[in-house]
Order: sequence, then structure tokens, then C-alpha cells
Amino acid sequence: MAFNLCYFIVCILFYFIDRVNCDILCEAGFCSSYRDEVGCISPVVNCRANNATHKGIWLPSPTLCNCCEYCLPLYGENHHCSLGGPGTGTTVGRCGDGLTCEAASSGGSFCTRMDTECHRAQDDYDDRYTRGETGVLEERPNCDGKGNYSTFSCIPTQTCFCQSEAGERLFGEVLYLGTHTKQNMHCGCSRFHERMRRSISPGVRLPVIGPRCTSDGNFNPIQCVNNMCYCVDTITGEILHGHGKMKIDLNEEPIANLTCYNRNLDLFPEQSTGEPPYNYTTPCFNKMNETINLILKSEKDGYNMDYFNTIPECLPDGTYGRIARTRNGTKICVDDRGHQIDGYEALPYTPEYNSMNCKCAETSLVMSKSTEKPVCCKNGNFRRIQCRRGLCRCVDSDGRQDGPDAADVTTLKCYTSDWRDC
Ligand SMILES: *[C@@H]1O[C@H](CO)[C@@H](O)[C@H](O)[C@H]1NC(C)=O
Ligand SMILES: *[C@@H]1O[C@H](CO)[C@@H](O)[C@H](O)[C@H]1NC(C)=O
Ligand SMILES: *[C@@H]1O[C@H](CO)[C@@H](O)[C@H](O)[C@H]1NC(C)=O
Ligand SMILES: *[C@@H]1O[C@H](CO)[C@@H](O)[C@H](O)[C@H]1NC(C)=O
Ligand SMILES: *[C@@H]1O[C@H](CO)[C@@H](O)[C@H](O)[C@H]1NC(C)=O
Ligand SMILES: *[C@@H]1O[C@H](CO)[C@@H](O)[C@H](O)[C@H]1NC(C)=O
Repeated sequence: MAFNLCYFIVCILFYFIDRVNCDILCEAGFCSSYRDEVGCISPVVNCRANNATHKGIWLPSPTLCNCCEYCLPLYGENHHCSLGGPGTGTTVGRCGDGLTCEAASSGGSFCTRMDTECHRAQDDYDDRYTRGETGVLEERPNCDGKGNYSTFSCIPTQTCFCQSEAGERLFGEVLYLGTHTKQNMHCGCSRFHERMRRSISPGVRLPVIGPRCTSDGNFNPIQCVNNMCYCVDTITGEILHGHGKMKIDLNEEPIANLTCYNRNLDLFPEQSTGEPPYNYTTPCFNKMNETINLILKSEKDGYNMDYFNTIPECLPDGTYGRIARTRNGTKICVDDRGHQIDGYEALPYTPEYNSMNCKCAETSLVMSKSTEKPVCCKNGNFRRIQCRRGLCRCVDSDGRQDGPDAADVTTLKCYTSDWRDC
């Protein structure tokens, strides 16, 4: 059991460990004399061109101290490629993103599109697109270089949310910025939590606390290990070094003294007031700790109480979740500070209570300044039929379009006569 509790600390420590720099040979000046004496081979044109036909990536050159410029060419589909060991020549490249080198039955090997779930989803979208069967608010799936789903998925005109490599929705949602604006969504922290969850369950009974995320799925700029708090890169989660206060001890100072402190991201600012020792915890984490301590104590005392389903599941931002129970037994949708969103509520012993997910309430909160918010049910779920500018569509529980649009709602496959009432 002690091992389980330690696990998460170790996990975080290894993650935030500093990078070690040990270059003894490669002092300043070494490269200029290397280039004079040995010389560099000029890199292939691909990296400078980086157009439709000539792609490449700059990499550290395979020379002593990486003194030369080095461009690795990335081959396009059907380009000849090598299945052999690592190439040593400077003109040997590899297949580009989403492609893999495969032996052809006719001999030789060529770059071919990987057969993955995400690529199949793209092909399915493309097929339907040519038949005119894609929805207006349906997005072509985005895949990454390995053929997995990329870090986020968008519902055009609404929001974008983080997803796993397998395409499941994860914690983290931001406003959709339009087709021509690059979404600044990295979801590194969200995906870290997802990987952690997958690598730990089902053997470990106790929950594991991972790095703290912000509502967009990025790393919170402040991460603490025991009493020490650090400023980290919000995209990679790595500890930052730099000017100003990048590290504090909670026994002396509050997180508000850190250079990277952002009041808007601090869900519990009261922890930075008053006398030391200061804290960087959340009510959910405290409750979790309290429950775990109870369980450990009961086991030590020789009896086994089944408390496990009483351990709260905290979201990656440390909150209890977006559904809260009120004193009179109803459930309401809340924001990350625990305030109720509009009037979303469900009464106990109703189907709406059991199916409540508050996803539509969350989306409309992210879209609070928009005039085209989705229509939510009273319990904060997405209404099955959404309409926009004269066209209606079916959506799934995440609000994603499911099937083509129709001007006449009765022709939609999810149509029921009581559709307006959810
Ligand atoms: C890409 O750049 C290369 C090298 O500059 C050039 O030969 C090629 O024609 C370009 N291709 C396109 C499609 O512009
Ligand atoms: C992501 O892609 C790699 C390589 O194609 C594959 O091994 C892995 O299983 C994929 N991950 C998921 C979650 O599908
Ligand atoms: C933390 O910041 C406050 C306000 O800037 C300052 O008064 C206080 O001395 C700082 N604490 C320490 C221990 O430096
Ligand atoms: C931090 O937590 C400890 C233990 O729960 C408490 O005694 C202390 O008052 C807290 N500090 C602040 C500034 O809230
Ligand atoms: C969790 O409980 C242990 C044992 O009581 C305590 O030492 C530790 O400080 C607690 N951690 C937090 C974050 O409250
Ligand atoms: C429960 O309390 C909420 C406010 O917290 C109120 O809106 C609702 O009407 C109450 N429900 C019942 C059944 O009393």
C-alpha cells in the first residue's frame, strides 16, 4: 500500500526531472574549427523548400558535436524507401507523416499510408464527402504523424476538446477559433493523465494524483512536489529556469509569489493568504487524502471496510468535477470554481438525473460570449437535435454531429415527437 502512495510522487518526479547537460568536448569554438578542418556536406534542399513535393526536417547532424546542418528528407506517398537498417548517408530519408515503408509484391519498397483507425475515419469522411453526405458542422478527423488521432477535435462554430490517441474525448475544452486560425491546443497534461490512468489501473486500487492541468488541457504553470513548487512549461510540463522567482517552498511563501503565478488560473486563491505554511491543494484532493488515510488506518487496525467507492474522483484540474450534489439532493452543473451554470439541474429518481453529464452546459459556458450556443437539456446534456441557420442535425453526447443536416427535423434519424423537450 505504501508503494501505491509513493507511486504518484515518483511518477511526477521523473516527469519533472531536470535535463542534464554534459558536453565536455563540444566547447564554444570547437565547431568552427571542425567546419574549417573537416568540412560539412551541404544539406538536401527539402528542409529549405518544405513544399508539397520536397519535405524534410532539420535534425542534429550525425557529425561530432552536431557541427553541421542536417536535413532529413521525408518521402511522400509511393516514393521509394529503404527497409534496411538506419541510413548513414546524408541523402537517406524516411517516409513522411502518416506513411510507412512497405515491401511491394512487385519488389522494392514504397511509402504507403498507414492503416490505422484514424486514417480509416478520414477515408470514411472523404467517401461521404464525395457523396455529399457529410454534415455542415462535422470535422474531418485529424491524425498525427503516427496515424493516431491528433491532440484535439473540434465542433466547428462551437468548441474544441482534447482527445486521446484513440480518439476518445478527454478533459480540456476551449472556444473554436475558426478554420483559418490555428488552435493553440496541446492537451499535454490531459494526455498525461490519460496515459497514467491506463498504465495504473486495474492493479492499483488507490487513485493517483498527476500533474495539475488547466481547463484547456495544458499543464498548469505551477506544479508542486511535496512542499516545493516550480514554474513549468505549460505545453511540455518541464521545469523552467529563468529570471524571477521560478521555485518556492510553501513553508515560507505562497504560490502567488511565483513569477508564473496567474490569478485567473488560481481556483483557490485563499491558499495564498494568511500565515505560512501555505498550501497548493484542492478540496477534492484533501477529501481524497482523508479517505485514503481512513482506509489505510482501517487496514492497519485489521479490519477491511469497503471505502473504495467513496474515494472521490478528482478532475485533472483538482476539482470535484462538473456535476455537484446540492443539500436537497438535486444535482447541478457547476464551473471549475463550483458555481452553478445557468439553471442546469436534475431531480433525484429521474432518468435525467442518472444520465446527467453537463457537457452542453460546459460548452455553452466556454461559448458564453457567442450568440450561437448549443441548446441544452435542463440537466445540462446536449439536446439530441441541434439547429443552426435553418438546418437541423443529430448530435452525440459530446455534441458532435452525427449524420447529415436536414431542413425538416422529422427526416432526421434521431427525431422523436418530443425532441424539443429532450
Ligand atoms: C518544391 O521545391 C523544389 C526545390 O526548390 C522545387 O524543385 C519544386 O519544384 C517545388 N515544388 C513545388 C510543388 O512547388
Ligand atoms: C498510435 O500509433 C502507434 C503506431 O502506429 C500504435 O502502435 C499505437 O497503438 C497507437 N495508439 C493508439 C491508442 O491507438
Ligand atoms: C511574497 O510576496 C509578497 C508580496 O510581493 C511579499 O510581501 C513577501 O515578502 C514575499 N514573501 C517572501 C517570503 O519573500
Ligand atoms: C495549509 O494547510 C494546513 C493544514 O491543513 C493549515 O493548517 C494551514 O492553515 C493552511 N495554510 C493556509 C495559508 O491556508
Ligand atoms: C495526506 O495525508 C498524509 C497523512 O496524514 C499527510 O502527511 C499529507 O500531508 C496529506 N497530504 C495532503 C496533500 O494533504
Ligand atoms: C433544491 O435546491 C435548488 C437550489 O439549490 C433549488 O433550485 C431547487 O428548486 C431545490 N429543489 C427542491 C426539490 O427543493
